[in-house]
Amino acid sequence: EKSGYDTFMEKEIHEQPKAVHDTLLGRTDAEGRLTLDEVHIDVEELRAVTKIVIVACGTASYAGMVAKYAIERWARIPVEIELAHEFRYRDPVVGEHTLVVSISQSGETMDTLMAVRHAKALGAKTISICNTHGSTIPRESDAVLYTHAGPEIAVASTKAFLAQITSSYILGLYLASLQGGISEQAAHGVMAELQEIPLQIETLLRSMDRVKEIAYFMADSRAVLFLGRHVGYPIAMEGALKLKELAYIHAEGFAAGELKHGPIALIEPGLPVFVIVPSPDSEHGLHSKVVSNIQEIRARGARTLVIAEEGDEDVVPFADEVIRVPRTSPLLAPLLTVVPLQVFALHLSTAKGLDVDQPRNLAKSVTVE
Ligand code: M6R
Repeated sequence: EKSGYDTFMEKEIHEQPKAVHDTLLGRTDAEGRLTLDEVHIDVEELRAVTKIVIVACGTASYAGMVAKYAIERWARIPVEIELAHEFRYRDPVVGEHTLVVSISQSGETMDTLMAVRHAKALGAKTISICNTHGSTIPRESDAVLYTHAGPEIAVASTKAFLAQITSSYILGLYLASLQGGISEQAAHGVMAELQEIPLQIETLLRSMDRVKEIAYFMADSRAVLFLGRHVGYPIAMEGALKLKELAYIHAEGFAAGELKHGPIALIEPGLPVFVIVPSPDSEHGLHSKVVSNIQEIRARGARTLVIAEEGDEDVVPFADEVIRVPRTSPLLAPLLTVVPLQVFALHLSTAKGLDVDQPRNLAKSVTVE
């Protein structure tokens, strides 16, 4: 059942090209318009949406953070992302023109389910992005966009995360097309780039030998930091979460711009820091800002493990290791940049002799509040 892999997690990491491919499949109708699965919300009501709130927990919440960048960019609708357990208990401002999007692999996470119920009680429309057909959250939502990652067995989420991000892009483009935020041509352009991602992940997965070696060298690390900016910020958080849950290492993800507001004090000689570098094509000079961050932390002795696009030579002088990812649009990069971080956590856990698929104290679905 592990198809020759040692662990379910490793198998699921290798199923990611298929997870993205299958999630993209059949998303356009005969006229080339985007479609969702079950939508029991009137199109006019979706056109009238003025605010989106995404609720999710753990890895799914990082997919939600990526979704915020994409949906706001394309659909020009304000998006808030909130941990489901926080949303539920703070008297959120939600009304009939609010669309509450839940993201959940299992569809059974109690915190997320309670947030969805709360949103419905407040009169919001609810859409579920979910990987499990017929589970509770999609059954209780007004509309569903299924991710097609297939069953995910390992406690640590990998392929479901990529499928959630992929679905978020589809939802963003769909809402943008309804509300006129994006031209048809631009939307097709994004879809065409998304279609290339599965092959790019395959290529990336074939070049992970060095990442595995680094993980083995680093098996004794006490702490690891992750820095990212823009859509790389949620990926830094995800890289840190994977390391916590799989290798029991104290790990933290930061927004790179926040470094100088405090976290830079943590930098000391030998501290490993992963940096997810935005594409050189990113707007607002983000690329060079992050390159400066690498320079700053290296000057203070950090061991810099840099994830950068193919051909980005600016990072080389300040990187102890450069991990290359294929080129794509800046907004779509998370589908690629997270992969080496998953592989790293997997091998570090293995190097420490830990149970990759069943980390201590954790359950695959958290069905209690
Ligand atoms: O089933 P869900 O997507 O609702 O689960 C949410 C989180 O519990 C889950 O993503 C958790 O953070 C994973 N163990 C992360 O690898």
